[in-house]
Amino acid sequence: MTQRVVLAYSGGLDTSVAIGWIAEEADAEVVAVAADVGQGGEDLDVIRQRALDCGAVEAVVVDARADYAENYCLPALKANALYMDRYPLVSALSRPIIVRHLVDAARYHGATTVAHGCTGKGNDQVRFEVGIAALAPELAVLAPVRDSGMTRDKAIAFAEEKGLPIDVTKKSPYSIDQNLWGRAVETGFLEDVWNAPIEDVYSYTQDPSRPRDADEVLIGFTDGVPTTIDDRPVTMLEAVQELNNRAGAQGIGRLDMVEDRLVGIKSREVYECPGAVALIEAHRHLEDLTVERELARFKRGVEQRWAELVYDGLWFSPLKRALDEFVDEASRNVTGDVRMTLHGGRAVVTGRRSAASLYDYNLATYDADDAFDQSLAKGFVELWGLPTRIAAQRDQRLGTQRDDRTQRGPAE
Ligand code: ARG
Repeated sequence: MTQRVVLAYSGGLDTSVAIGWIAEEADAEVVAVAADVGQGGEDLDVIRQRALDCGAVEAVVVDARADYAENYCLPALKANALYMDRYPLVSALSRPIIVRHLVDAARYHGATTVAHGCTGKGNDQVRFEVGIAALAPELAVLAPVRDSGMTRDKAIAFAEEKGLPIDVTKKSPYSIDQNLWGRAVETGFLEDVWNAPIEDVYSYTQDPSRPRDADEVLIGFTDGVPTTIDDRPVTMLEAVQELNNRAGAQGIGRLDMVEDRLVGIKSREVYECPGAVALIEAHRHLEDLTVERELARFKRGVEQRWAELVYDGLWFSPLKRALDEFVDEASRNVTGDVRMTLHGGRAVVTGRRSAASLYDYNLATYDADDAFDQSLAKGFVELWGLPTRIAAQRDQRLGTQRDDRTQRGPAE
């Protein structure tokens, strides 16, 4: 029986050519798998037909948008996940759901091998292959771009030679990956890290410096999940779509950064993630109101680790699963409303309210009806500072004070 290979298919030139390339090289039948994770652009039926026209024996195209929103973007929101404190993991989040569909298709269509079109320099090869290893360790992997010299020039020559139905003259100066959670743009003139991005780079966001009216939005959360916008019930998918539009119109969520890739390279990336950035900002402010201090402090460390694991291709891993449990537990009581002004490239929280609020007006106020007993503070400060006092007395006694500029008086 002919071998079958499942290919992660985007509909673009490289993966279209890869269908025939793999069929020839591996003497196999190729099953193309494409997932709609909110990247927009072409109709799924068009993509499906192109895969078949390029020689695929089967083409599986799935609308994975709601699943992606609820099971991939939502955990990232609850974890306030920002790699290097900035990047909302756009590409890193979409690879695990694509892997899930590749593995399902491999099992359904009796394939022994999964193929992807990643180069050897990026993170996505890792996310695909480690993800497949986690879900289906028995499957082999083919990476023609990385491992068998399928360069862009060769791909174009191959497409012309075989008369493939793809427009080989269409060439964007950028490498773009986009989905519901945002858009990543690299290469071209952006490879010089001193070059500023130009408006041409962006498509999810408008120029934030252009004059326009501010937009006020009310986002309601239930246990960390956005459930209403302006008092209308929304699904996670609808929440992200609406905020992509409204925050995008205000130029929110543009990022320009130098990023540490897993393979050791520093790379320049430009992102636009209007919905993700606005939602994370709102969510963090509601957490400030509703999450107990020690839990909140600990969660910040968990968030950073969660983002690194997902960035590094370990979505399907024991530690990531355990951290998800922690994040879900920490999200209990993150219920309430956040009011936000979207304007001039910024999403600014201007109010928050919650039945689960830990903010106590009577404790916080400086007014007369203050319920905070200040006489208790005296003893608290004394005991809190006790270890410091004892250590300082020891240092004085032994003459071993630290030679620290901040500890020396101006006269010394
Ligand atoms: N650097 C980002 C990541 O590793 C985005 C990768 C895909 N970007 C692209 N423009 N093709 O998650």
